[in-house]
Amino acid sequence: MRPINYLVAVCTFSATAKAWTPEASSDIIQHVGDPVGREEVHNGVTMYISPTPKAADPKTAVLYLTDAFGLPLLENKLLADSFARAGFTTIMPDIFRGDPAPHDIYFDSEAFLAKHTTNVTDPVIETTIRYMREKLCFDRIAVTGYCFGGRYAFRFLAEGRGANVGFAAHPSFLQDSEVLGISGPASIAAAEIDTLFEPARRFEVESMLNQTAYPYQVALYSGTFHGFGTRANISQPEQKFGKEEAFFQAVRWFKAWL
Ligand SMILES: *[C@@H]1O[C@H](CO)[C@@H](O)[C@H](O)[C@H]1NC(C)=O
Ligand SMILES: *[C@@H]1O[C@H](CO)[C@@H](O)[C@H](O)[C@H]1NC(C)=O
Ligand SMILES: *[C@@H]1O[C@H](CO)[C@@H](O)[C@H](O)[C@H]1NC(C)=O
Repeated sequence: MRPINYLVAVCTFSATAKAWTPEASSDIIQHVGDPVGREEVHNGVTMYISPTPKAADPKTAVLYLTDAFGLPLLENKLLADSFARAGFTTIMPDIFRGDPAPHDIYFDSEAFLAKHTTNVTDPVIETTIRYMREKLCFDRIAVTGYCFGGRYAFRFLAEGRGANVGFAAHPSFLQDSEVLGISGPASIAAAEIDTLFEPARRFEVESMLNQTAYPYQVALYSGTFHGFGTRANISQPEQKFGKEEAFFQAVRWFKAWL
């Protein structure tokens, strides 16, 4: 993949970060309730933006790349808000341009994937990173991705693509070249049962990560299924633990390496 020539923004920072008013609960990760961010359109891309936390570093941010269910999935918005509560300005673009998978396991995934190829999806993410770097003046970006978006976390961690550190929960269709091509620390949260990221594939990915020059981490969570990073059934203790721990895995990874 060719590096992207992002412009270097010239910015002055003033102490005008929007006040962060947490919901009644002070818990960082929340599974229920109303999202507290807003959707805005920038450069033709709809972006869900969580309220900037007071203590956020003005030069760093989290780019949240969703699973196939995209912005309409409540859990995605709540998790983006959770990253904000953890201290990061968080931006979640609509990588499907208004055409996410319906929230129904019987949707035609083949047709969906045929429509949302890397050719179609990469430019939306590029536009988002361009906005984050050139307009919002972030110069260090952590990318977090789930299922469909997990692969793109790796794609944008490649040299010159715009992200500096990455995390992926149960990435699907991750290619060897995308793993070997990273240019920053990468962390993965894997599910016990995941036909899109089977144990044999996980071992291959671990050994490829080992061949890169960057810190890496792969964590496996028992009692979890593909999608648990966002759509865990939180009535089930192992799934709830897995989802929360995968979230804090990402947060700690970003705080350590961003
Ligand atoms: C993506 O674009 C490249 C270059 O235009 C083309 O060769 C390739 O076939 C496209 N791939 C898909 C999956 O559309
Ligand atoms: C990583 O590479 C080292 C050195 O080649 C090797 O000894 C080790 O077994 C590898 N570990 C994994 C998890 O691939
Ligand atoms: C979630 O788990 C609870 C407790 O085991 C169960 O009753 C419920 O049906 C599950 N929900 C879904 C959507 O599977």
